[in-house]
Amino acid sequence: MADQDVGKAGRVAGKIALVTGGASGIGAATSRLLAAEGATVYVADINAEGGAAVAREIGGTFVTLDVSREAGWQTVVTRLDSEQGRLDILVNNAGISPHDDYETLDLEAWDHIMDIVLRGPALGCKHGLALLKHSEAGAIVNLSSIAGMIGSSGYASYGAAKAGVRNMSKSVALLCAERGYPVRCNSVHPGSIDTPILDDDRRKHGAKAITGRERLIPLKRLGRPEEVANAILFLASEEASFITGTELIVDGGFTAR
Ligand SMILES: NC(=O)c1ccc[n+]([C@@H]2O[C@H](COP(=O)([O-])OP(=O)(O)OC[C@H]3O[C@@H](n4cnc5c(N)ncnc54)[C@H](O)[C@@H]3O)[C@@H](O)[C@H]2O)c1
Repeated sequence: MADQDVGKAGRVAGKIALVTGGASGIGAATSRLLAAEGATVYVADINAEGGAAVAREIGGTFVTLDVSREAGWQTVVTRLDSEQGRLDILVNNAGISPHDDYETLDLEAWDHIMDIVLRGPALGCKHGLALLKHSEAGAIVNLSSIAGMIGSSGYASYGAAKAGVRNMSKSVALLCAERGYPVRCNSVHPGSIDTPILDDDRRKHGAKAITGRERLIPLKRLGRPEEVANAILFLASEEASFITGTELIVDGGFTAR
């Protein structure tokens, strides 16, 4: 812990955190919350302008990272190692969620979604673990989705990739436990959250797309990015010290039916 962090209050005080997709939506809200709770935050994204703005705002560091590229992960982890000597919290959040279905499946599009949504977090776990396993208490939080738990006809590739993220999180949790690494790994499953990821829907279907979603949610509204960030903070913090290999759903009751 750096001298200036000693005595700093916060639920993740003194921790070093890396948040992918930190330029926007849930990733930006998570970066802000982790920083407010005392962590030193590295904001990683392909969106350099947005990512740098979030990093500036929270006194963190921006790193350019395309999560689907192994070389990028190597560079980021090497930088974390030389600047901080460790990593305590990894939030694999970056993602895209285009519509597609199995009748019209385009394999190039399938590969692109798999690369970002599933390979990204897999590479994050692989390279992140090299540092996380030396943390006093490490945590990985992988963003899945309720689309990774229940079927949805319009999200063929995304749903399959997010189901993969859910299972991968459990496997990583078990691997860490078996190898005696002090690293927990869990997945978070948002329902419909009001972020730019819904813009595609808005563009195609206008306001109807959002009111249609809201009607289907028992709490009758979209979630806010900060509400998902709260769940991520909990799993990343020592408050969740006996929680590993499980999932936390943040969906306003959608999957309770
Ligand atoms: N918003 C929702 O309704 C919702 C629901 C379920 C799951 N999720 C998941 O939550 C996560 C965050 O989504 P959001 O709603 O905040 O979306 P968002 O579009 O606001 O943010 C996603 C961020 O990921 C970044 N990104 C995209 N591809 C990248 C890549 N290859 N490498 C690095 N960064 C990349 C984008 O630049 C952006 O900053 C995603 O994994 C998404 O699938 C969101």
